[in-house]
Amino acid sequence: MDATKECSPLVRHSPLLTDRFASIRALSRELAAPLSDADATIQSMPDASPAKWHLAHTTWFFETFVLRDHVSGYRLFDENWPFLFNSYYEAEGPRHARPQRGMLSRPSLDEVLAYRAHVDAHVERVLDRPELAALIELGLNHEQQHQELLLTDIKHAFSLNPLAPAYGAFPDSGILPAGAMEWEEHRGGRCRIGHDGSSFAFDNEGPAHDVLIQPFALARRLVTCGEWAAFIADGGYRNPALWLSDGWAWVNAQGITAPLYWREDGMFTLAGMQQLERSAPVAHVSFYEADAFATWAGHRLPTEFEWEVAARNHDPLGGMQLDNAVGVHPRGSTGLYGDCWQWTRSAYLPYPRFRPAAGAVGEYNGKFMSAQCVLKGASCATPRGHSRSTYRNFFPPEKRWQCTGVRLAKDL
Ligand code: AVJ
Ligand code: FE
Repeated sequence: MDATKECSPLVRHSPLLTDRFASIRALSRELAAPLSDADATIQSMPDASPAKWHLAHTTWFFETFVLRDHVSGYRLFDENWPFLFNSYYEAEGPRHARPQRGMLSRPSLDEVLAYRAHVDAHVERVLDRPELAALIELGLNHEQQHQELLLTDIKHAFSLNPLAPAYGAFPDSGILPAGAMEWEEHRGGRCRIGHDGSSFAFDNEGPAHDVLIQPFALARRLVTCGEWAAFIADGGYRNPALWLSDGWAWVNAQGITAPLYWREDGMFTLAGMQQLERSAPVAHVSFYEADAFATWAGHRLPTEFEWEVAARNHDPLGGMQLDNAVGVHPRGSTGLYGDCWQWTRSAYLPYPRFRPAAGAVGEYNGKFMSAQCVLKGASCATPRGHSRSTYRNFFPPEKRWQCTGVRLAKDL
């Protein structure tokens, strides 16, 4: 296994790794703090995992790829647990079936927290080993991805409880007003795409390469709930002329008439039921819905390359992103990042000359490069600092339990 080449010497020798390790591991505990053992154990659907499983799986990642593989004499916390907490790594052997993760009433939440403390203590002793820094950095970025999944998965689980429980408070600052739709124009041309720097990036962000882009414009804000309500009122979900063929089949087979979590009496959020705020960015729509909306509006979705080129002028730390467990809700941001991940019309494919790393870690991203769409930006559930212009999130086109929204594009 060789994941070290994913990171630069700069990252490997960063004195900040110790601080990052402590604060990112602490945020996971903080996100789980409002949850009971029962809350943390349930699984609402095969796509979603129990919060307890996220806490254990991210710990398994460090235990396996850092401690087991690189620290001599390390003994597993529990020899039976890798079977439970390996997600999809074929090279790591057989594993518990994903749709059955909700059956893990044992180990308890407390035992999983003890596992975390044990692995933390052992990783802390090797944080200064330069040859391990790239793997530890990968483990931290992995943990940040699971922090977002923990929140979107618990939201889905709570949404199925008729009591509509609240995970946390609604944002104090409320929803920001959304102005008229404005556009940022770009010349296009031959543009460098992909990660080519010295800082951390996932393997799917490279190799950097040139792409030819036609002149285009990108919307300065996300599509709002009010605009989505107009699409619904205009019969958007009933007009096949607006839909891709697979999308139209999906809408009909699933009986889709509105974004996930929209209800007669408002919208289900991590703060329980709330009024539908017309100026808030629409969230929890599928690629198919995003594409149909764009067609209805007379525009289109951006390509991942257009988005990336435009994002060079925007602050990846800006907008509504995750800082702590409080107020996780799209509120309206300026800039390209925050609130909702944004569907692109780009298929999630390898960049030219992409080669996954050898060994189990090579399964991280590369093997999912079929039948999924690229999403750009960051959402209100993305830990601030995790995303960047080259970041490629990806999900199948019908999924909508992630915090996914719409930024329009048009040809110039
Ligand atoms: C990039 C969000 C699609 O959900 O499987 C977690 C993130 N990769 N563990 C996923 C991930 C390995 C990944 N997504
Ligand atoms: Fe994972």
